[in-house]
Formats: sequence, structure tokens, C-alpha cells
Amino acid sequence: MTGRPVLIDPSGRDIHGEGARIRAGGPVSRIVLPGGVPAWSVTGQEAARQVMADPRLSKDPRRHWRAYTEGRIGEDFPLIGWVLMENMTTSYGPDHSRLRRLTAKAFTPRRVEALRPKVHQAVQELLDDLAATPAGEVVDLKRRYAHPLPARVICDLFGVPEESRAQILRGGEVNVDTTISPEEAAANVAQWHRDLQDFVDSKRAEPGDDLTSDLLQAQEEDGSRLNESELMGTLHLMLATGTEPVMNLIANTVRALLTHPDQLRLLRDGTVSWADVIEETLRAEAPVAHLPFRFPLEDVTVAGVTIPRGEPVLINFAAIGRDPQVHGETADRFDATRADKSHLSFGYGMYRCIGNQLALLEASIALPALFDRFPDLTLGLPPEQIEPQVTFIMNGVAELPVRLAAAVPAAA
Ligand code: HEM
Repeated sequence: MTGRPVLIDPSGRDIHGEGARIRAGGPVSRIVLPGGVPAWSVTGQEAARQVMADPRLSKDPRRHWRAYTEGRIGEDFPLIGWVLMENMTTSYGPDHSRLRRLTAKAFTPRRVEALRPKVHQAVQELLDDLAATPAGEVVDLKRRYAHPLPARVICDLFGVPEESRAQILRGGEVNVDTTISPEEAAANVAQWHRDLQDFVDSKRAEPGDDLTSDLLQAQEEDGSRLNESELMGTLHLMLATGTEPVMNLIANTVRALLTHPDQLRLLRDGTVSWADVIEETLRAEAPVAHLPFRFPLEDVTVAGVTIPRGEPVLINFAAIGRDPQVHGETADRFDATRADKSHLSFGYGMYRCIGNQLALLEASIALPALFDRFPDLTLGLPPEQIEPQVTFIMNGVAELPVRLAAAVPAAA
């Protein structure tokens, strides 16, 4: 390990450049988080596998982050929302298993496959809406397609009524903006909480055939399975993770194809498949970039580096997909023909993403349908003017301006 710790840029302007600078310090390297908080970043694929599979690392900051339990992390820590929220991503051991079990059963391959017709229908409606755009007009594909699709699917599953969706999902969007002030972050969490509380109250009064009602029923049958704070934390988590990373996967894939016309040609002539393109996007443009937090329960040595007990560790998924030890000199190149597209962008081990099948289902329907309907799709701005999403936790674009050109009539 060499050099000074990399200071994380909260605006996420250069996720990959920053990842390379961190990696220069070794696969497990010191960083400094916004708020001046020292932490560790894991950029090596092998080291990340070890860290994510090691039961000696907890995800519960309230119990296992030394600086927090010793009162050195206050309400003014910019990522305090990621500490206080109680759900499976901030819990450990039996608590984690209990919370994960409550929702995981709704996302088995069979249950997800049953959603296929709904996803198709949502995609067709969104494309019809886009097709009504006046010729030549530039539209933000993120707002009009990449976001509404997963938002609709996850809100339908959790029974969130149409009229509250935008407001409830906004809380999750603001939560990943790592440039907001601690006061703004706290105000956002409080508002998000109130919005969700209203929603939960309405579901208690009138349960439906949805996953929120299932959680409420589990809580009613046996309160020890899910307390009120965990219920809210779980809803925050599911609605946000159900939307934001899928949105980034769709938007990042569209951007990659429109900026790499050679790859689009290979896709069209059948040299590569949509599955290849989606995997390559997950590798080269991991939708979740740099995720807080894990904490060793004792000193843990990974790749020759000892991470002391209780210090925060972040997994740098964006850098892991581009690990030159695995992908060689071309690791930074978007190339769907590469044989080894290995990445850990859905995580690994006991915390592996619950929603990966759903995310792949949505992307594998949304992307081909978009390019079939708008074969002459182009970017609405020069690539270098496309701004990144303001966050170091996610990896996406702020907006994705495109010109749709003529639509091919919808299939009957
Ligand atoms: C392309 C889309 C997605 C990506 C890249 C992604 C990525 C990830 C990653 C990297 C983790 C592991 C976090 C860690 O180990 O610290 C994770 C966990 C999780 N994801 Fe996803 N995710 C995606 C879509 C979804 C969807 C659609 C849902 C909801 C249905 C979802 C729900 C979850 C949940 C609940 C966890 C926590 C699992 C646990 O802590 O045991 N994700 N995701």
C-alpha cells in the first residue's frame, strides 16, 4: 500500500479516475470520506470477494463502527442517513437473516419470471408515450424511460398508489446525492419518513395484494420479526434499490451503445447478444459505484493489508469491474465481445443483491424494445457534455438527452 489516502469527491464527477487513483494504493486502500472520516476502499476483485464473504465483517454501523459507538460521528456526518437507517443492509448476523428473509421470497427466479408480462406492458406504454414526442425534440431518456420503468414495477409490487409515487421515490434520489449538506440530508430523511409513514398508515387501514401489506401482516403476526423502524427502513431500501440502480443500468447501457457505434453494430449483426451488452455494462459501468459500509469485528487482513476492527470499509464496485488484474490492459474499454466480463456489481456472499433477477429482466426487455422502436436513436448532446449523477455512491448520468428520430410502428 502506497501514497496518501484518496479524498473522495462527493460530487462523483470522475468515478473511474478516482477508482484508478484509489487502486494505485493497492486492492485495499485508505480513503477519506466526506466529513473527513477515514475509511477503506476495496478495488480488487479477489480482495472484494474475500471481504464480502467474510462473516467477521458486519454491516451494522450502530453496533460495530467504533468511531460511531464512541460518539465521534455526529449528526453532521454527511452520510448519517446510511448509519441510522435500519434494514438488512445495515444489520448483521441473525438480524440480517431475519430482515432479508422477509422480502427475499418475493424475488425468487420463479416469482420474478411471473412479472414478465407486466414489465412488457410497462415498456410498451412508455415507448408509446415517447413515440408521441415531436420529431427532432430532445428528450431526457432517464426521466422518461430508465426511471419510470423500474419505479413503476417496484411501486406496483409494494402497492404504492400513483399519486404518492413521485414524492416517496424522491426521498431515495436525494439520499444518494452526496453533495447535500447534513441539514438537507436530515430534512430529506425526515420528509421521506413522513411520506412513507402516511403510506404505511393507509395500507394498515386498507391492506391490498402487495408486498407492503405482506410485511405489515408479518409484523402483526409476530412483532419480533419486524419492528416499526425496521419496517420503514425496509420500505426505504426496497423502493430505492428497486428503482435507482436499474435506472442506471438502463441509462448506462444506452449511453455506452450510443457512444460506441461499433458495439451497436456488433449487436445488430448478431456478433454479440443483449445479454453480452448488459453484462459488459455491469462490468464497465457498475450502477452502484462505491457502497457504504462494512466493519471488521476484529482486525482482518486482506491482500496483505490489515484493516483494524471497527473501521469503515466500502466496496468499490465501479473499480472492481475494471480491475486490471482480471481484465488486463483493456479493462477500461467497453467491449461486449470480451470473453471474461466478470464483475461483482450485484455484490457477493450473504448480502448479494436480492433484486438481480428482476433488474436483469427489466433491462433485457427495456433495452431491445427501445432500440427496435427507435433504431435511429442518437445522443442529444456531445458525449463529453453529459453530466454524471451527483453522487459517489451510484454511477449514472444526471440526464440522458437523446433524439429519438422516427419510431418504428409498435408490434401488434
Ligand atoms: C442493476 C440493478 C442493481 C444493482 C447493480 C444492484 C446492486 C446491489 C449490490 C452491489 C448489493 C450488495 C450490497 C453489499 O454487499 O453491500 C445489493 C444488495 C441489495 N439489493 Fe440490489 N442492485 C440492483 C437492483 C436491485 C433491485 C431491483 C432490488 C429490489 C427488488 C434490489 C434490492 C437489493 C437489496 C434488498 C439488497 C440488500 C441485500 C442484503 O443486504 O442482504 N436491488 N444490490
